[in-house]
Amino acid sequence: MSDLTVELTAPNGRKYTQPTGLFINNEWVVSSKGNKITSINPTDESEIASVHAAEPEDVDKAVEAARAAFKGPWGEMSPTERGDLMYKLSELIEKNKELLATIDTWDNGKPYSVALNEDLAEVVGCIKYYAGYADKVHGQVIDTGPAKLAYTIREPLGVCGQIIPWNYPLAMAAWKLGPAIATGNTVVLKSAEQTPLSILVFANLVKEAGFPPGVINILNGHGRIAGAAMAQHPGIDKIAFTGSTATGREIMKMASATMKNITLETGGKSPLLVFDDADLEQAVRWSHVGIMSNMGQICTATSRILVQDGIYDKFIEAFKKQVQEVSKVGDPFSDDTFQGPQVTKAQYERVLGYIESGKSEGATLATGGEAYKNVGEGKGFFVSPTVFTNVKEDMKIFREEVFGPFVVIASFKDEEEALALANNTTYGLGSAVFTKDIVKAHRVARNIEAGMVWINSSQDSDFRIPFGGVKQSGIGRELGEAGLEAYTNKKAVHVNLGTWL
Ligand code: NAI
Ligand code: MG
Repeated sequence: MSDLTVELTAPNGRKYTQPTGLFINNEWVVSSKGNKITSINPTDESEIASVHAAEPEDVDKAVEAARAAFKGPWGEMSPTERGDLMYKLSELIEKNKELLATIDTWDNGKPYSVALNEDLAEVVGCIKYYAGYADKVHGQVIDTGPAKLAYTIREPLGVCGQIIPWNYPLAMAAWKLGPAIATGNTVVLKSAEQTPLSILVFANLVKEAGFPPGVINILNGHGRIAGAAMAQHPGIDKIAFTGSTATGREIMKMASATMKNITLETGGKSPLLVFDDADLEQAVRWSHVGIMSNMGQICTATSRILVQDGIYDKFIEAFKKQVQEVSKVGDPFSDDTFQGPQVTKAQYERVLGYIESGKSEGATLATGGEAYKNVGEGKGFFVSPTVFTNVKEDMKIFREEVFGPFVVIASFKDEEEALALANNTTYGLGSAVFTKDIVKAHRVARNIEAGMVWINSSQDSDFRIPFGGVKQSGIGRELGEAGLEAYTNKKAVHVNLGTWL
């Protein structure tokens, strides 16, 4: 066992025991080939720790454990008891939130205050929210006349494979585990290879809360190996995925062989519309948060700002000022840091590549536009918050998801043009509209092609409210009551009370 943990001291001085194995059947095990993933601190590019990476054989073992739990103790447990275990888990997360936030800041690079007050608050809130639903998922009785009693049973799907990204390592796990566990499924969850650490500490809490072995299995592993094995596995009934649209497409293809139930939450290029009659100061503040928080690594980031002609120049002036004053780049463990490093070298280079593209396509670079080297000894994946203006709709930077502190701003003359620009995208995840005219606000909300619309805000998602996209931003919904739909079947039972042959 001792070789499946390592003693670590985080940059903020916090000491803890980091598990490094695969969590299957409530036990820590090695991967079948002994291959490892090394996690890097994006702030200074140092190695943090290496953890075991699952192979297809390990996925088989996890699926077997999940199936046994589903058919055994978990399936037999009452929904109220399931909810109690989830409450216990949420309490343990609350108790350990500083440690978990520390690990995510170290591994992902997000500011500590964000990890603690946003990510961990979301994890605790989401697990608790779905704990409450565990014994409130009911079927229906459907009246078709006196000759029949017809009713439905909301039954779990079985073994669910969940594949999550690195931008919110624990919150994405909570969004997926919450509804799956509340409705009586068992889970094999694979976290992202860029952020493999916090979820393993979380796994210890699953065991401590008292979940029966096999209910929640947690693997690290490479997408193309472990993720692909999950997407194709005949023993997995459902795949829930959050990540890039390209990988989402791959998963859909792989899942088609066994016709798995799927939910996909993929990319976006979400528009934010500012009309002449908006509260300019509020529009500026929210649109800054909407793209620059979490280093711009948010699937719903409002990364295309569209501003009406009459206030375009004023908006740009104020937005630039907001970026320069608020987006303080620095060590994510410093209290005054707003923006830490990008999660990996690959993401950092990707953002820099889009900066070059913006310049060569002729957009106006209003601020930023370079690597940021003034943190510590000049290492780390930091990028200056970047704003391009006068962006045209045929430019690559207007069309493609960048996933960084990078925003494009364009102008429009009227509502019709605003909607045409907003909807000129293959994506349809988030969107936002700023206006004081309530009629216009609701009309635009109806006509915008997106799964979510924020009126006079951006990114204030909530675990009680459905989340998901249209077009190539995904399939299905997570969170809220809608999140339960993704994890249950409605079985119809017909009872003949009087049709005698
Ligand atoms: P990705 O979509 O490749 O990775 C997300 C998850 O999918 C990870 O757990 C990964 O291991 C897994 N995965 C990768 N390939 C797989 C495969 N063939 N089969 C099964 N699972 C697989 O995203 P990546 O490469 O980390 O980031 C690239 C871009 O994706 C980002 O720049 C961003 O534009 C977008 N992205 C969007 C996210 C969102 O929240 N919608 C989150 C992360 C990335
Ligand atoms: Mg890392």
